[in-house]
Amino acid sequence: MSATNIVWHSPIVTKESRSTLKKQHPFIVWFTGYSGSGKSTIANAVEQRLSELNLHTYLLDGDNVRNGLNKDLGFNDADRKENIRRIGEMAKLFVDAGLIVITAFISPFKHERQTVRELVKKGEFFEVYMNTPLTTCEERDSKGLYKKARAGEIKNFTGIDSTYEPPVNPEVTLDTSSMTVEECVNRVIEHLNNAGILPQ
Ligand code: ADX
Repeated sequence: MSATNIVWHSPIVTKESRSTLKKQHPFIVWFTGYSGSGKSTIANAVEQRLSELNLHTYLLDGDNVRNGLNKDLGFNDADRKENIRRIGEMAKLFVDAGLIVITAFISPFKHERQTVRELVKKGEFFEVYMNTPLTTCEERDSKGLYKKARAGEIKNFTGIDSTYEPPVNPEVTLDTSSMTVEECVNRVIEHLNNAGILPQ
């Protein structure tokens, strides 16, 4: 049952004052794509680049969050939606803390990604679509999970027997089968720069 009689307390220290202290605009860089598409690799490299610019960041990654906060969730559609809902709420709190949040989750459903976009202010959400072909992700099979999914040992595997809905209007589209890590990172940073969200 949902809680009632909840009153939101206006804090004395605000999002603006926290951001000013950190000398940055907070925002979310949301990576989405198949398992093995390069989300974690590029997300880590983008975080490193932002950190080198003396920005305060935090990376939320599928496997890490699923080992802790979301360890009660599996991979059916309802659990994936709840996974993304919680991560979205968490990312929103981190933005309120003045941080730059980078997330790397398959996040297969358009509706849930749109919901997260609407949790923060316009211009604070950057969707990065990892458009690496499924055949490449499966060939890489870095965790050996595609093999298991093909053998029927894992059910509801994204791209095999579970849906992935590509973004319609992502801020950035990348493909790690044809672009280097550096090219991908440069594309993201260039977009953030053009959006005027990074300190000059
Ligand atoms: S999401 O769909 O709910 O966004 P999330 O990004 O958290 O997924 O977790 C995906 C990771 O869990 C994959 O990279 C993979 O390592 C692992 N995994 C285990 N089972 C599955 C499955 N059935 N489908 C996709 N990924 C799975």
